[in-house]
Amino acid sequence: MKILGIETSCDECSAAVVENGKRILSNVVATQVELHKPYYGVVPEIASRLHTQWIAEVTGNALSEADITIDEIDGIAVTNRPGLIGSLLVGVSFAKGLAYSRGLPFVGIDHIRAHLYAPHMEHELSYPYLGVLVSGGHTVICEVLGFDDIKVLGTTIDDAIGEAFDKVAKHYGMGYPGGVMVDRLAQQGSSTAFSFPDPSLHKGDHVYDVSYSGLKTAVINQADQFWDGKSEKSLENIAASFQHAAVEILMKRIRLALRASGHRQVAAGGGVAANSLLRRELMTLDAEVVFPSLKLCTDNGAMIAGIGYHYLLHNQCDDLSMNASPRVQAFKRGYP
Ligand code: KG4
Ligand code: ZN
Repeated sequence: MKILGIETSCDECSAAVVENGKRILSNVVATQVELHKPYYGVVPEIASRLHTQWIAEVTGNALSEADITIDEIDGIAVTNRPGLIGSLLVGVSFAKGLAYSRGLPFVGIDHIRAHLYAPHMEHELSYPYLGVLVSGGHTVICEVLGFDDIKVLGTTIDDAIGEAFDKVAKHYGMGYPGGVMVDRLAQQGSSTAFSFPDPSLHKGDHVYDVSYSGLKTAVINQADQFWDGKSEKSLENIAASFQHAAVEILMKRIRLALRASGHRQVAAGGGVAANSLLRRELMTLDAEVVFPSLKLCTDNGAMIAGIGYHYLLHNQCDDLSMNASPRVQAFKRGYP
């Protein structure tokens, strides 16, 4: 089965064709990074307007790169939650229109689940395993017990890890997109120049939870006292020390969860899984660790088509009443 996947939940306009949930025939990602750069963040109105202008061409390119026509597509999968509502609506409306006009089955996909599915596209994973989802909107440590069976162990109690990277980068004018710039600057800095606390709760049900808003505030308060913008390496040192703290906060919980659960495999996904330090640290775990290649870490249509295949194969389709939602429906603690 060849599935067309469409992803417009934030600022990447993407379409892809994937065969049988794994074989990527094309994965076109039109990034809006340069257009949001002047604002140091995604401007929702600009994002949705660009999606409306780009989506048809991006989809056409995905089909031609896969060397097929729409007639050879067996179904359509589209991100319909969570994300920026204006951006989501563009992809959802486009997918519905295309599916209706072609008489194709279609399904709305949870973006977070798709990030967790991404490692399956390049690796053999067997259930159960420990899942780590780290993106601009989410930070989740979970047990993946089966395809549709996820037990959340810990989440952020406030900001997501990627959000902290983006906010620290914005505060110090490190550039945009924040996570990539912090990662790059940190390579030249000292991770021990500053010592930042782990401000998360550590008790009872909350041992696996994290707080990145607390870390971000600590970084800004503490580093601001020494920041004159002129000292050699000051920006690099802030980036390296912050990145070290952000990764260690997460790794502490992952090590704990791995020990408690006894799982032998760990799979990480989401934009922050592209972080070089996190990837290095994950590799030190006493388990088989897999993460997607960089293009499958950040937002992309291939992971949507990949996971969509499994729903469509079992006729778990949506009808035209399917809608977009900005909210997270799964991935609260205790889910499902
Ligand atoms: O998964 P994603 O593309 O979109 C969401 O679903 O949120 O993740 C975007 C996030 C942003 O916060 C971005 O700064 C972060 O991933 N990111 C990184 C790196 N590359 C992207 N964070 C740290 N290091 C990186 N190399
Ligand atoms: Zn994402």
